[in-house]
Amino acid sequence: MKEKILVTGSCGQLGTELVAGLRDLYGESAVVASDLFEPKNEAFPAGPFEVLNVLDKKALTDAVVRIKPTQIYHLAAILSAAAEKNPTLAWDVNIAGHMHVLDVARDSGGMVKKVYAPSSIAVFGPNTPRESTPQHTITDPSTVYGITKLVDERLADYYFKNYGLDVRSIRYPGLISYKTPPGGGTTDYAVDIFHKVVADRKFTSFLKPDSALPMMYMPDAIRATLELMDAPAEKLNIRSAYNLTAMSFTPAELADEIRNQFGDFEMNYAPDFRQAIADSWPASIDDSAARNDWGWNPAFGLSEMVADMLLNISKGQPA
Ligand code: NAD
Ligand code: SER
Repeated sequence: MKEKILVTGSCGQLGTELVAGLRDLYGESAVVASDLFEPKNEAFPAGPFEVLNVLDKKALTDAVVRIKPTQIYHLAAILSAAAEKNPTLAWDVNIAGHMHVLDVARDSGGMVKKVYAPSSIAVFGPNTPRESTPQHTITDPSTVYGITKLVDERLADYYFKNYGLDVRSIRYPGLISYKTPPGGGTTDYAVDIFHKVVADRKFTSFLKPDSALPMMYMPDAIRATLELMDAPAEKLNIRSAYNLTAMSFTPAELADEIRNQFGDFEMNYAPDFRQAIADSWPASIDDSAARNDWGWNPAFGLSEMVADMLLNISKGQPA
């Protein structure tokens, strides 16, 4: 079957690279990217684009009637740190926007065959086991972002069980990439550090030196997404969202690896409100369900990720 794809929230950290991955797979014209605004980043891949606010259900419905997507990748969201600053907006975008996408897909008369709507490690909370956090465990998020993502997971499972909608999802850990700046998360320090070290040989972390979090390099995240969406439906036992990971490290461990590969720099620590968010999240993740059900296997560990980030960010620096 010829696929046609609609992506919401395309201009963000994930969307910029996922749209490119989808266009490589399905062809440029088969993938319609959308967001609140036209792409400003020159790294954004060429191809069809629409301005689309997922809070406007009529506009979303009209877009789906016009574009006739067989798959929707719903990436529009307000991330953890940004959500703490505007909980009402986060509630609206992360829950009402998500439900609009599920409703429009459900009511498409079978035209939309699959929906991808990512979740996050933020669904876990302070009472969740922090090491090797299991797929099924306590989920008592203490951030508005985590609360909304947990509701989204339950809705995805509900729409699958009650309406037969093929919704798939991953609980991404912190995503690390160089093409697009991150959009207001707690794991953003692990991206910012590369830009500041390469430009100034200095970095101040907003998390403490020993604050471990699970992370993943963007090429792995894109591959995982495409592999999950390609997996046979009967192999998938999780319809809320799959745990997924590639590596875990602290700011001090990341700094050491950058020093090993790039040379010395000044590292300072000034923890802010994001420390409490990080403290409530897992340090490492058990992703055996994803490995067993659809063969997940990450390619990038800490040293491979650092080498590739340094290479690509150094290319953007004046000689
Ligand atoms: P981002 O903040 O970089 O991008 C989100 C995009 O959504 C932005 O371009 C924004 O303009 C758009 N958006 C916001 N409100 C919108 C609306 N009402 N209508 C349409 N678009 C709207 O976020 P990201 O990192 O690209 O995240 C994409 C998805 O992945 C989200 O669901 C997020 O929760 C999830 N995720 C990301 C990470 C990460 O580390 N980046 C980790 C876990 C989960
Ligand atoms: N990286 C994301 C954040 O920090 C996790 O979902 O918000």
